[in-house]
Amino acid sequence: MGWPVNEFPFLAVTANELPFRERDRRYAELHEWPEATFRHRSGLQLIWRYDDVREVLEAVSDGISNSNSLDPLVGFPRIMATPGAIPPFLRHLVPLPAKATANLTDHDLHKRVWNTMAGPDGHFTIGAGERADVVRELGRHFDAAIDAVTAGNGKRAGVALDVTAASIAYAARVTGSRVGLPQADWSKVATWSGAQSGLLGRDMRSRHLAGAVEALGQLFTVSSAALRGSPGADGFHTRLLDAGLPRRIAISTMANCLAAGVHTVSGSIQQGLDRLLSDPGRSWWSMLGEPTTAPSVIGKILQLDPGLVAWKRRAQRPLTLKSGTTLHKGPILAMFAAANRDPRAFPNCLDLGASGKLPLTFGFGRHVCPGKSLATVAIEVFLTRLYELAPEARLVTPDGTETSRPRDLLFSGADVVVA
Ligand code: HEM
Repeated sequence: MGWPVNEFPFLAVTANELPFRERDRRYAELHEWPEATFRHRSGLQLIWRYDDVREVLEAVSDGISNSNSLDPLVGFPRIMATPGAIPPFLRHLVPLPAKATANLTDHDLHKRVWNTMAGPDGHFTIGAGERADVVRELGRHFDAAIDAVTAGNGKRAGVALDVTAASIAYAARVTGSRVGLPQADWSKVATWSGAQSGLLGRDMRSRHLAGAVEALGQLFTVSSAALRGSPGADGFHTRLLDAGLPRRIAISTMANCLAAGVHTVSGSIQQGLDRLLSDPGRSWWSMLGEPTTAPSVIGKILQLDPGLVAWKRRAQRPLTLKSGTTLHKGPILAMFAAANRDPRAFPNCLDLGASGKLPLTFGFGRHVCPGKSLATVAIEVFLTRLYELAPEARLVTPDGTETSRPRDLLFSGADVVVA
């Protein structure tokens, strides 16, 4: 006998609203669900089994498209029916931004774009010889972010540190500087990218929707300005133009990178830290003190607690995946954070040293995340520097505290304050 529909573990909540133990519990339950798909009230068809998620993310089979990956969850008709959203939409987003990265379906053009970001000489590629410099630069962003949220008192004993705010400030600096925005704009990157993230995964209405459209518009407007700036100067804008990409594609590439880097990185830091400090033995936390053991903790955080938990695709027609799972025509939500816990692929996913397949946190195939190495180093620097600064840090927010974080099908974070 099937389970009653109202017991589906992600029927009414998203990962973003759950403390991590509850998240662990519901993901485990999800893998016991008798069906392989679930029709969500958002209109998205949810999938979570490892092989299915990988096949759908890879999107090489005829019938699976990535063209809707960056579409707003609420759809363009709701935006155009929201009076406050229309002026910013017309001001900044008409004509519609070009498809450039995750939603580009022209494979040859996409390959050229992707190479500017993550090819052998790509802008976000970190060569072995560059790592030490990148770590130093990220360390400076860590110091600046801690100072910014504690008014310069962050290194005094006993001061409460809002890690959620600090990690957002940090990730905005890391992304804004790397993409090449003027420093004056870095702090605003968090708001603008929050708008893009929110539009992808939240059921927004009225003034929230209008505010998000305005902020998303700003993201494209500053990207356009950044592309004009300092011709000839070494930077991402020069690399995009040197690759001969049409200007509209270059603008969208910049905007998409700005949008992609902030809440993904900061959400992983927040949720990861919540898990590390909630453990009474703090064994994973203390492993951050050792350069040889820290990377495996970061890898585990990225497997279990990524700041981005799912991504969209579309079935162009009814189809059957290699596993036999059948999909209806329409939009799909590939829940990769859930797939990273599929017992068929990761027999003991909550154990640190457990074997398993490649986690799908950064996607799979031709659209795999070009910011993967930067994001991984950035998370490692933040958490190891925090450990050095405050090895005795304790969560101020008691474990299991109710959270009022918004329902979000794609992004996930945690409200974390430490002392
Ligand atoms: C923990 C941090 C991050 C996570 C979990 C993450 C996850 C992902 C995933 C799942 C995709 C695949 C999208 C698809 O298949 O269509 C993706 C693509 C992308 N990511 Fe990331 N990302 C992170 C950080 C970053 C950073 C720091 C940047 C930029 C600096 C970035 C830029 C991008 C871009 C531009 C794409 C689109 C690639 C393409 O389709 O060509 N990401 N990311």
